[in-house]
Amino acid sequence: MMLEAIAARASVRSYKPAEVSDEDVQTILEAALHAPSANNARPWHIVVVRNEDKRRQLSRVHQWAGFCADSPVVLAFCAEESKSPHWWIEDLSAAVENALIQATALELGACWGGVRGGGPGHAMRSEEHVRQVLDIPDGIRVLALVSLGHPDRPPHPQASGPMENVHYESW
Ligand SMILES: Cc1cc2nc3c(=O)[nH]c(=O)nc-3n(C[C@H](O)[C@H](O)[C@H](O)COP(=O)(O)O)c2cc1C
Repeated sequence: MMLEAIAARASVRSYKPAEVSDEDVQTILEAALHAPSANNARPWHIVVVRNEDKRRQLSRVHQWAGFCADSPVVLAFCAEESKSPHWWIEDLSAAVENALIQATALELGACWGGVRGGGPGHAMRSEEHVRQVLDIPDGIRVLALVSLGHPDRPPHPQASGPMENVHYESW
């Protein structure tokens, strides 16, 4: 059941040292790249990072990304902004969520680390930091870092959001 995997997803920020297999990473990348995309622009680029030194540098992007140093894999979700100037954020967000759900279905732990410049607490320098660490060229935006690893303890998924916030026919 798809809802089982969706409901089992939880942010996992600590991991066993075991590697994540190339096969699992490939499956997660495929899931990400099956996301919907406005005007079918598909502006996604994903940088797969296993190198420990780079992960450590990425973990310093801001104070809430320490888990990137400990997860054996980090995926940097990027977009060619010119391909979808209005919708690249939504396109990348859909890809990130697909990746998180696929990781859960593979019994891996994952966490979304926000990067995109401009949000509260996420100044442009976060994006610049990732751009420098990963040699990302101009014109490419960075939305998120996604850690992947084997959870060091069973994840605790949250209950679903409140059904009272669902409105039928009108507010
Ligand atoms: C846009 C976005 C940015 C996030 N950025 C971070 C982050 O930088 N660091 C972090 O530890 N968690 C981050 N999270 C994960 C949230 O903290 C987490 O989803 C939330 O607390 C709910 O917990 P759950 O994912 O286990 O359901 C982010 C989530 C989203 C959707």
